[in-house]
Amino acid sequence: MSFVVAIDGPAGAGKGTITELVGKQVGLVNIDTGATFRCVTLAMIKNKIKLEEEEKIKDLLASIHIDLKKEEGEEKVYLDGEDVTKQIREKQVNDLVSPVSTIKIVRDNLLLLQRKMAEGKDVIMEGRDIGTTVFPDAQVKIYLTATAEERARRRVEQNKEKGIETTYEEALANVKARDKMDSERKQAPLKQAEDAICIDSTQMNISEVAREIIKIIEQKRIENVYEVGLPSYLQHDIDQFIEGKKSNSSVLDCYFDELYGSINSAYYSDEITEDQANYLRHKYLFK
Ligand code: DC
Repeated sequence: MSFVVAIDGPAGAGKGTITELVGKQVGLVNIDTGATFRCVTLAMIKNKIKLEEEEKIKDLLASIHIDLKKEEGEEKVYLDGEDVTKQIREKQVNDLVSPVSTIKIVRDNLLLLQRKMAEGKDVIMEGRDIGTTVFPDAQVKIYLTATAEERARRRVEQNKEKGIETTYEEALANVKARDKMDSERKQAPLKQAEDAICIDSTQMNISEVAREIIKIIEQKRIENVYEVGLPSYLQHDIDQFIEGKKSNSSVLDCYFDELYGSINSAYYSDEITEDQANYLRHKYLFK
């Protein structure tokens, strides 16, 4: 499997901005899964298809082509060859995308597309269900959140920059309605994965959040390099040592000696490099 970083969380938590920034800095391909739902929504509007017209939606899904591309450093979204990057952020799409994303055939179809988009690449993928459903084995899972009030405040600011006047009350009601719909839907609801790291950005600025996520990714990448393909006896001793530590086992000294010995054996028999041996000793034994 390629290296996957999953960034999930509610609307307005800053996932889009953070994902783009972090992806650029650490060299990961950015996949905005929300954009795929927005494209289907736009296609339904263009073809005058209603939410309950399942057969028509099915045919539409079979015929449309969605593409996410990077052009001159900018993330672009194409629907059937047309650049719809701006259109998919307009009000008519905003108003309909949450209900569209609750339709089972839409989710099933986009799940396959999203997995395909990541094939053979190292990616940072932003959405609601990436760590729980799309890539449950993602190497890094972040759940990025902030209070509804803070997210509404940010939305008002963003809109102001775009020349759109929104009241705080309006924005707050919108954020709360989207949270409710995204987390209460039956299909792949918005939910923090058990093994995700939660970052609450209410009191943080963008660069603080980005820095924290980059630290987590870099750490995981190092682990990936040094802890992949270890000889099975060494992996066994690492697992035993970790279990022993968790249960505060009285035989921990013995596990320590065994692990120390097997790291040395693996190194002296050229099964691991010197850097790997040092990394493992430092991580498990001498920290
Ligand atoms: O992140 P966004 O605002 O562009 O997402 C638009 C909608 O798509 C949002 O209401 C929830 C839905 N969505 C989803 O259900 N699953 C995803 N992985 C991404 C987005």
